[in-house]
Amino acid sequence: MTDSSPRRPLMAANWKMHKTPAETAEFLARLQPLVAANREAARPCDIVVAPPFPCLPAAAAAARGTGIELAGQNMHWESHGAFTGEVSAAMLLAAGCRYVILGHSERRQYFGETDATVNRKLHAALAAGLTPIFCLGETLAQREAGETEAVLREQLERGMLGLAPAQAAVCVIAYEPVWAIGTGKTATPETAAEAHRYLRRRLALLYGEAAAAAQRILYGGSVKPDNIRGLMAQPDIDGALVGGASLDPQAFAALVNF
Ligand code: 13P
Repeated sequence: MTDSSPRRPLMAANWKMHKTPAETAEFLARLQPLVAANREAARPCDIVVAPPFPCLPAAAAAARGTGIELAGQNMHWESHGAFTGEVSAAMLLAAGCRYVILGHSERRQYFGETDATVNRKLHAALAAGLTPIFCLGETLAQREAGETEAVLREQLERGMLGLAPAQAAVCVIAYEPVWAIGTGKTATPETAAEAHRYLRRRLALLYGEAAAAAQRILYGGSVKPDNIRGLMAQPDIDGALVGGASLDPQAFAALVNF
């Protein structure tokens, strides 16, 4: 495949609450040879792995020199303080992360995250020099009520509120329809692409056409080796944020090598 897109694809593994440090080291040792050809591929991908916090040291040691980047799965917006159970952007950076996943629907659903807290986190991550992977997406009820575009618009605009254009340009956006996460019900490539096109149109209104054309928008929700090519054939889909299939090095490598 030739690369007609100005955007470099990105495949991100969101492990959620899975794997120990030893399992992390084993995964990366097995993944590395399977993705070695990626650098010379016609359309090389950025590869990102987001392990649980206690696995970051093992991941950093195993990923050193491989080109595989690390992400935190969440962070607090404050730099330090009495926030039991939280970690800061500086801590993630010091642990070897270049990226941080923010606003994941599971954080919104189970841990009370709102567009306002996601917005504070985006500001803090960018100020610290982390690249946010900013997640948004509609629920099944919202889709069935015809609210998909309104929900995406609200999450996008509230989440990115107050970002300078240069900061917005750094963000990676992940469209993850909640009904497709962990359900085996992937959005069809056309349904996903429609949402991506809508997000890109809104980004163009916010930050201009050139910025919108350069913004990476990932799809997430039951991405598997057997559906990745259809998704990646859509010009507006720039990669994937993967849960279940990212836990197995063979499967994740197949996604990287789509
Ligand atoms: P699944 O790939 O397991 O559906 O999870 C998607 C997701 O939530 C990635 O962040």
